[in-house]
Amino acid sequence: MYAESRQEIEEFIRLGAPRSWLEDPAASRRLADQRIRMPAYDQLLSVDEIDNLVAFVGAVERVGAPDDATAARGRDLARAKGCFSCHGVDGSGGVPNPSSLGGFIPGFLGANFTDLVEDESEFREWVLDGTSTRLETNPIVSYFWRRQRVAMPAYRGEISDDEVAAVWVWIESARDPSN
Ligand code: HEC
Repeated sequence: MYAESRQEIEEFIRLGAPRSWLEDPAASRRLADQRIRMPAYDQLLSVDEIDNLVAFVGAVERVGAPDDATAARGRDLARAKGCFSCHGVDGSGGVPNPSSLGGFIPGFLGANFTDLVEDESEFREWVLDGTSTRLETNPIVSYFWRRQRVAMPAYRGEISDDEVAAVWVWIESARDPSN
């Protein structure tokens, strides 16, 4: 209702109100008079947890819905192909995955995304083959990959090159903090 961007959602969660309200004397007085206030979660949540919450609230409230036609198509495709059933609402992550490295299926929007996906060609590998040739040679990663309950399915034959490209455009635009 009040948050107009992902930045403002983040400020609500971290600070309890957008920075612009906290810096405005009239708005701060109004906040001080309120019986119940949104608590500030800055000290209670990790950077990753806040990232995931911002992505979740933004997705549910449809803040930052893509204006770009290709990005909008990519997001619709990701939904239609079932990506969100494992990668969370709008790719916000956090679906439990017992015996996996982090305990959860990662999302597309958080700060750690680039550890797993450096560029579009690695993204293609994940989607088409369900793996990353860069990471599968890492002994710790492959140890967990053998044990984790849910694995990334290979979509080869199920998704076209052009569709993978559209999903990538959407992820890149959704990751842009100005959205
Ligand atoms: C059956 C559940 C499932 C479905 C459906 C699924 N994924 Fe995954 N995906 C996973 C798991 C599990 C991983 C592995 C994460 C790890 O442990 O490294 C993964 C990894 C990834 C990664 C790399 C890690 C990251 O940053 O998220 C990308 C990118 C990805 N998937 C994209 C997709 C896309 C796009 C779709 C839809 C076309 C999709 N996935 C559908 C379960 C799934």
